[in-house]
Amino acid sequence: MGNCPTIQTERLLLRPFRESDSEAYLGVLMNQKVRKALYLPDKMTREDAWQQMAMFLGQWELRNHGQWALEERSSGAFIGRAGPHRPERADWPGIEIGWTLHPDYWGNGYATEAGGVAVDWVFKHHGVDALYSIILAENAPSQSVARRLGFTLEEERVLDFFPTKKHGIWKLPRERYTR
Ligand SMILES: CC(C)(COP(=O)(O)OP(=O)(O)OC[C@H]1O[C@@H](n2cnc3c(N)ncnc32)[C@H](O)[C@@H]1OP(=O)(O)O)[C@@H](O)C(=O)NCCC(=O)NCCS
Repeated sequence: MGNCPTIQTERLLLRPFRESDSEAYLGVLMNQKVRKALYLPDKMTREDAWQQMAMFLGQWELRNHGQWALEERSSGAFIGRAGPHRPERADWPGIEIGWTLHPDYWGNGYATEAGGVAVDWVFKHHGVDALYSIILAENAPSQSVARRLGFTLEEERVLDFFPTKKHGIWKLPRERYTR
């Protein structure tokens, strides 16, 4: 049993990634709309999907936070991932809350539902003063999720991992956190 908890919301199950998610997660990463939003390469492999899943689970073990695999409770379908993320990058502002769903499940409020759990979970278990979300200026749907969760745009800057465009650094200070 690892560190990643399983949490149920009204419509979602947030749970640890499993080996058997590889195919469905690859399906998310191979989807053209997702690749466009995240600037993923044209060809994502099963190995890429597996490594990302292992990285998110690894963050739970090493840092006691990481992204969850998301299941839609009504169907049992794997729909994507969401949660805290802090890659080992010197210019990362802190713990990010992120979200990526298969487009079949966009437009239901699922990213906001899972993101809210992630915000609650990190503020409860980690003594950080603020959470962040790192979003490109063109990614309006992701900005809307951040806004609904109470994040505001703090600054725009180029991050080392993606030198060709500025990312918006969205911030939710603990003192403004109300849930
Ligand atoms: C970013 C992303 C997760 C947002 O998905 P989303 O479905 O727009 O966001 P939510 O799940 O919060 O759903 C919100 C939408 O559902 C609608 N909705 C429908 N039923 C709802 C309900 N019962 N409760 C809440 N919202 C509901 C909302 O009105 C809103 O629609 P709107 O934006 O047209 O107003 C999605 O676009 C995605 O996966 N993109 C690719 C990956 C990506 O860019 N990740 C972020 C990188 S920074």
